[in-house]
This record gives sequence, structure tokens and C-alpha cells, in this order.
Amino acid sequence: MLLVRFSLLSALVLAVWTRERIHLEPGQRLHDETSPWKLVRRARADESLDVAFAIKTADATTLENLFWQISTPGSLLYRKHASLEEIGRIVSPKSSSLVEIERWLASEGGVDVETNCTYTINRDFLQCRISCQSLERLFQIELYHFRHPHAPNETIIRSKKLYSVPSNIASHLDFVGGLLRFSPVDDESSTSKISQPTSVQVSASHLRSMYNVSSNVGSNSSNKQAVAQFLKQFFHQTDVKEFFLLFGGSFEHRDKIDKVVGPDTGFAGIEASLDVQYIMSLGANISTWFWSTAGLHEKQEPFLQWIMDVGNTSDVPFVFSVSYGDDEDSLDSSYMNRINQEFMKQGARGISLMFASGDDGTGCNGKSFVPSFPASSPYVTAVGGTEMSDILFGHEVGNIISGGGFSNVFSQPDYQKSAVTDFIGSSVHLPKSSYYNRSGRAYPDVSALSNGFTVVFNLIPTPGVAGTSCAAPTFSGIVSLVNDHLLQEGQSTLGFLNPLLYQNPTALHDITDGCNEGCQETGFCSQKGWDPVTGYGSPNYPTLLEIAKKNYS
Ligand SMILES: *[C@@H]1O[C@H](CO)[C@@H](O)[C@H](O)[C@H]1NC(C)=O
Ligand SMILES: *[C@@H]1O[C@H](CO)[C@@H](O)[C@H](O)[C@H]1NC(C)=O
Ligand SMILES: *[C@@H]1O[C@H](CO)[C@@H](O)[C@H](O)[C@H]1NC(C)=O
Ligand SMILES: *[C@@H]1O[C@H](CO)[C@@H](O)[C@H](O)[C@H]1NC(C)=O
Ligand SMILES: *[C@@H]1O[C@H](CO)[C@@H](O)[C@H](O)[C@H]1NC(C)=O
Ligand SMILES: *[C@@H]1O[C@H](CO)[C@@H](O)[C@H](O)[C@H]1NC(C)=O
Ligand SMILES: *[C@@H]1O[C@H](CO)[C@@H](O)[C@H](O)[C@H]1NC(C)=O
Repeated sequence: MLLVRFSLLSALVLAVWTRERIHLEPGQRLHDETSPWKLVRRARADESLDVAFAIKTADATTLENLFWQISTPGSLLYRKHASLEEIGRIVSPKSSSLVEIERWLASEGGVDVETNCTYTINRDFLQCRISCQSLERLFQIELYHFRHPHAPNETIIRSKKLYSVPSNIASHLDFVGGLLRFSPVDDESSTSKISQPTSVQVSASHLRSMYNVSSNVGSNSSNKQAVAQFLKQFFHQTDVKEFFLLFGGSFEHRDKIDKVVGPDTGFAGIEASLDVQYIMSLGANISTWFWSTAGLHEKQEPFLQWIMDVGNTSDVPFVFSVSYGDDEDSLDSSYMNRINQEFMKQGARGISLMFASGDDGTGCNGKSFVPSFPASSPYVTAVGGTEMSDILFGHEVGNIISGGGFSNVFSQPDYQKSAVTDFIGSSVHLPKSSYYNRSGRAYPDVSALSNGFTVVFNLIPTPGVAGTSCAAPTFSGIVSLVNDHLLQEGQSTLGFLNPLLYQNPTALHDITDGCNEGCQETGFCSQKGWDPVTGYGSPNYPTLLEIAKKNYS
């Protein structure tokens, strides 16, 4: 008895002295030989790196409840949006947590939070620029420079191994950004490609008439929409102007981006030009922002930086089109769950986040499908791709590339349970059940045309641009247009769309043909109602506006 008590006591003493360490994000995919990023050299002690401490949300349950109430028609709080400050009251961590983190940074890393770090307004993130020497000590890692063949002149600093923190610190953190994940470069994670222009060519006015936008354009000066960019891609105002000279003759529009957030120089990229030109064609005459999040030289994780910045800014656009994604199975669930909370914070503020669903169908790793995150998040709207079945008398069908399937991490949200059950019960073709988990969050939610787009790029009209990156800004522009009319009538904006859409599927144009690609064979197939290729279908402006107005009280 005495012996047992003694050993318990000594274990306790030991724990205090050696401070048990805990790996955060143990499921994050690490650098290996298959990575395009090649190791260059060990980082010098005096080089520095930007890291972001994702401090645990004080009251995650209240945040989630509020998000669902604000997003679900019929709830008393539906579209009664919260301000950034109100969100802060729910999520801001306790001062004692911050004190403990700051003490650790000072004592083990020599980091002075006053000089080396900044908090977000709601103190949910702490971003610091810290020397590699201190980082290696704080996290018990070694840092190296890595280079990507497509960006030969730049390197980024990362760890090859998991990082750890003392257990008392681990209890205050979801993860630390900037140490493990590699920035996507070029087209790896962007979802636009140039294909042979054999398909039907799509123009701005064609999209507008197809989706029944007719002559509607925005007119409320407080409305705004944005595209988010990550890959050092930029747009040129001269391309936008040229695009609308060529293709904007039949509708009122603006031909200039109103605001650039982040770095405002760079080479024009296809992805950036596409997003800007098409969100401005559908959401015509609506103030458009270009929210750019830097490149490799900025030393951080662009996607994380974007969502952190949006959550640290009071005046933000109501709609974001985002053509970006990563393999769900390469990320740790603690990272994804925290990003989901960031999506909830923005949804509760009345912001709609639209993500391209990806261009690899179901995705495949040989044994199972590989969903794309954030499209697989239950808290965003995932936009899949369609195409025309025939040049002359075609109808809209699911595009084989359209990203879709079931999350292996997030369970199915209530709003889509009956839609998915109907699909599983009536689908004439289902892939092998070992490939996917039918009780996961199913995506996409909606879709739009995804090939044959012409983009003006360095003043040259480039036809044949394809990918779900075409669909996301197209759908997003129409959501902005709906928002515009709501604002004119004194209603609030749509915010997170999915509960409204799943309650009112007839607002969308059902796509019933076409399958996406799976593992060396067909993946899922479109059919009547919701399906994991095209969701509930493509936008129909008048019916979307009607359900948006009708469900407001
Ligand atoms: C958050 O915004 C405030 C005010 O604009 C700024 O001072 C601060 O540096 C920002 N924090 C981060 C982490 O970006
Ligand atoms: C904190 O910032 C100062 C000034 O930039 C820098 O000299 C110092 O190395 C930083 N401290 C750490 C631990 O990185
Ligand atoms: C890299 O730097 C070299 C020399 O400064 C320059 O000629 C080249 O264009 C750069 N490459 C890229 C991809 O920026
Ligand atoms: C375009 O939007 C502005 C407000 O941003 C509005 O004053 C103007 O009337 C709109 N143009 C049309 C044709 O509706
Ligand atoms: C399937 O997903 C559900 C909910 O996300 C989870 O509880 C279950 O463990 C998963 N099943 C398998 C076999 O992965
Ligand atoms: C524009 O929207 C705001 C709400 O954000 C509203 O107060 C204003 O009356 C609207 N103006 C017009 C002209 O529709
Ligand atoms: C556009 O409206 C027509 C007439 O109401 C309808 O038949 C068609 O399906 C609509 N298009 C879409 C994409 O919903």
C-alpha cells in the first residue's frame, strides 16, 4: 500500500519536473520523399518563421448552437447575425490560458509577446515571428529549408517531424500553424485547368441567361463579394477591363476590383483572373474585393492566414468564392475541427463561404476515396461541376471531374440526412462500399458549369478553362445578387446557405445525368434529387431569390 502511494507520488513529481510533452496534430501528413518539396538545408538559428497559435475556443458548444440557429430557417434567430464582438464574447479564451501560454513562450523560448506577437481582436489566434533557435527549443523540432521545383528562387522553413508542447500548454491549443503544412504551389491545389477547347464555349451572357439572371444586377452600395487567392496569383485590372469590353456588352457591370486585401502586386494567374471575371459577371455591378494571401516568402500558411484575417476584420464581404482544397486524409482532425469553428464564426456573421469541390471526382488512394477539405466540411457550401451534354441541343449534366463523395472525418449534418438517405436508397449505381463512409458529410451541395470558360489573361482571351473553379465564382456571384435584393428590401444576407437549400431543393435546377470518376472506375452518378456529383443542382436565380425572401421573418 505504502509502496503504491509512494510510486504514485514520485510519478507526479516526475511529471512536474520533466513536463510530459504532447504532439499536437499527430495525424498531419509529414514531409517524405514523395513530396515535391525538396530539403535544401537546416535553418540557421537566427532565421525566423511566422507561426500561429490556434488558442482553444472558450465555449465551442455555444458557438456551434448559435451557428445552427442563425443558419436554419424556422429558428427564431434565423439570419439574426452576430457581430465580430458578439462572437468574441463566446470564443475568447480565458486570460489565465493566455497568461500560461505567454509564460511558456517567455521562459522556454525567450519570446516577448509584446514585441514578437500579435493577437487577433478576439484573442483566438496569437501570431508570432520567432527565431528558428527558439522554435526548435519550444517545440523540440529541427527546422529545414525546403524548395519546390516550380518556385526555384524561394524556400520555406518547416519541420519534418511532429512538434510537441508541454501538456499544460497543449490543453490551451488546438494546433500551431506554420510548422508542418507545406504551401500549395501553382496548380496543385487550385481547381482550374486549361483543357482543349473542344467543349461548348461558355460566355458571361450565356451563363446569365442559362441561370435565369436576365438583366438583374446589384444596386445596393453596401453589398460586396470577394474571391480568395492563395498561390501568389494576382489579377490585372487591365484584363478585367478587357474581359468586360469583349463579353460584358449585354448587361450592366463594373469593370474594376474595388479593394485588394493583402499583397497587391504579382503576375496575373489563370485562377485569379477566372474567379474575378466570373464572380463579377454573375454578381454584376456589385463591389468586388480581391482577398489575396501572399506567397511563400510571407513564411506562413496562406489558407490559415486567410481565415484568420477574415475573422480579424469587422468589415468583410458577404460572399467568398474559394477555389482551394487539400486531401482530407493528409490533415489532422484537430486542425480541421478548428478550421470548422472558424467557418462557424463567419457563417454566424452572415458570410457565405463557397468552396470549389475539387477536380478529381471522388479522389482515390487505391484503397478508398479521398475527400477534399474544406469542401467536405459540413459548415461550408461545396460547389461541384457540370457541363453541357451536347454543343447544340445539350442539357446540363454532371462533369466527370466534379469533386464529390463522403467525408471520412465529419459526420453527416442533420440538414442533409434525408437527402442523402434518399440518394443511397434509390441510386442505380453505387461504388464499392469499402471506398467510402456513407454516414459522413456528403458533398457537393450545389453545382454550376465547369468547362469551356474563356478568361482574359495578360490581355489575351484564353478559351477552354475548366474545373470546379469555374463553378464556384459563378454560383457565388448569383448568391451575391440574391443578397443584393435582400439588402434592398431591408433583409439580412444569407450567411451559411445549406440548411435553407436542403429545405428548399426546388430552388435549384436539378441535374440528373453524368457520373464522376472514382477509383479506376465510375464514382457516383447524378440522379433526381441530391447526389454526390452535382448536389441539388445548378442555380436558378428567381427561385433562389424567392426562397430567400420567403424564409425571412
Ligand atoms: C488583428 O487586427 C488588429 C486590428 O486591425 C491588428 O492590430 C492585429 O495585428 C491583427 N492580428 C493578427 C494576428 O493579424
Ligand atoms: C523578437 O523580436 C525581436 C525584434 O524583431 C528579435 O530580435 C528577437 O529575436 C525575437 N525573439 C525571438 C525569440 O524570436
Ligand atoms: C529566379 O531567379 C533568376 C535570377 O535572379 C531569374 O532569372 C529567374 O527568372 C527566377 N525564376 C523565377 C521562377 O522567378
Ligand atoms: C450599380 O450599383 C450602384 C450602387 O453601387 C447603383 O447606384 C447603380 O444604380 C447600379 N446600377 C444599376 C444599373 O443598377
Ligand atoms: C463512418 O463515419 C461515422 C461518422 O462520421 C463514424 O462514426 C464511423 O466510425 C465511420 N465508420 C468507418 C468504418 O470509418
Ligand atoms: C442597402 O443595404 C443597407 C443594409 O445594409 C440598407 O440599409 C439600405 O437601405 C440599402 N440601400 C438601398 C438603396 O437599397
Ligand atoms: C430558367 O427558367 C426556365 C423557365 O422558368 C426553367 O424552365 C429553367 O429550368 C430555368 N433554368 C434553370 C437553370 O433553372
